Amino acid sequence: MSVAETFGVYVHWPFCLSKCPYCDFNSHVRHVGVDEERYVRAFAREIATTADRIGARTVSTIFLGGGTPSLMKPETVAAILDAIGKHWSVASDVEVTLEANPTSVEATRFRGYRAAGVNRVSLGVQALDDAALKELGRLHSVSEALAAVDIARTAFERYSFDLIYARPGQTPAAWRSELARAISAAAEHLSLYQLTIEPDTPFAALHSAGKLVTPNDETARALYDVTQEVASAHGLPAYEISNHARPGAECRHNLVYWRYHEYAGIGPGAHGRLIVDGERRATATERRPESWIMRVEASGDGLVSDETLTRVEQADEFLLMGLRLSEGIDLQRYEALGGRALDAARIASLRTEGFVESTSAGRLRVTPAGFPILDAVVADLAA
Ligand SMILES: C[S@@+](CC[C@H](N)C(=O)[O-])C[C@H]1O[C@@H](n2cnc3c(N)ncnc32)[C@H](O)[C@@H]1O
Ligand code: SF4
Repeated sequence: MSVAETFGVYVHWPFCLSKCPYCDFNSHVRHVGVDEERYVRAFAREIATTADRIGARTVSTIFLGGGTPSLMKPETVAAILDAIGKHWSVASDVEVTLEANPTSVEATRFRGYRAAGVNRVSLGVQALDDAALKELGRLHSVSEALAAVDIARTAFERYSFDLIYARPGQTPAAWRSELARAISAAAEHLSLYQLTIEPDTPFAALHSAGKLVTPNDETARALYDVTQEVASAHGLPAYEISNHARPGAECRHNLVYWRYHEYAGIGPGAHGRLIVDGERRATATERRPESWIMRVEASGDGLVSDETLTRVEQADEFLLMGLRLSEGIDLQRYEALGGRALDAARIASLRTEGFVESTSAGRLRVTPAGFPILDAVVADLAA
């Protein structure tokens, strides 16, 4: 599929049953209930407005992310997918992923999501350790999560789950056995995230008060190394810094971002990269659900930012996203986007240090030694 033909649609469901203390995603708890029909109408309206603006496309991937999309009724998911299909054509092999929390209540809806058109589920398992799940503020137990994985396996062609590692007190030996157990429940894809202390979260407050101690750099590096070793040994190599898959089973929607293709962001706090009249535009919508819905009802979309990216900005974004991938970036595309080549001297010096390598096909990629310091490598190349 060519670059021009690859188009993804991201839809954000911004509600959760409770707020996890480490999370800074755009997620909100509403005890009064959520009017799903009203949200469906607003999603459909924003989809229509976006389609009017960019014109015909063939949707290759759809991702319902959150928040907790598995709190939606299957009818809500079906209506959102219908709205996408009404305004764009949809590829026959479209990948439709829904993010789900692995509680028993949510797992009962999996078959309904499948009937609505979802063909891939991504479960937020987070840990296979009940004490760690409690510390992370999760509402499920290990056995409940594994039962949800079993249901996902029977309901969907494809499923993945997320784990968070580098948790307080976690040793490389404990993580090794937890990961091996996780892989025995996994099929083709796993997302393995290092715990990040995000500003303005309860974890950030505990961390700065010394009440939550995360692994030091040396242990974090050992945990990262264990992750790569165990996952690769089981046929799930990293294709992106935190994502592992059997070759061919990568999340195609996330590849749309990392390969810097076009995508629409629908719903509160969603980001998009749209090609409008030949220009690449960066869009973002209002984050607060109630404000987003009022904007959509008043004007057809929830946009709060909509800017043309300069060529240099596009090349920088392409670099930032593409170097997360083990396949790296096409240097010619970098040059075509930005109108200038990457600095050969900087590449040469990073290559000498063993942090990047060039392939015969004209690609530049970060080496296993470079991935733990990816941010520094990107900053050096983009400078
Ligand atoms: C949009 S979130 C969550 C989806 C779903 N609501 C859930 O919690 O299961 C996607 C993933 O990001 C990861 N994540 C969120 N905050 C994180 C943090 N501070 N550090 C590392 N991983 C994080 C979690 O693994 C989570 O499953
Ligand atoms: S981690 Fe998931 S369930 Fe927890 S607050 Fe964030 S989006 Fe919601």
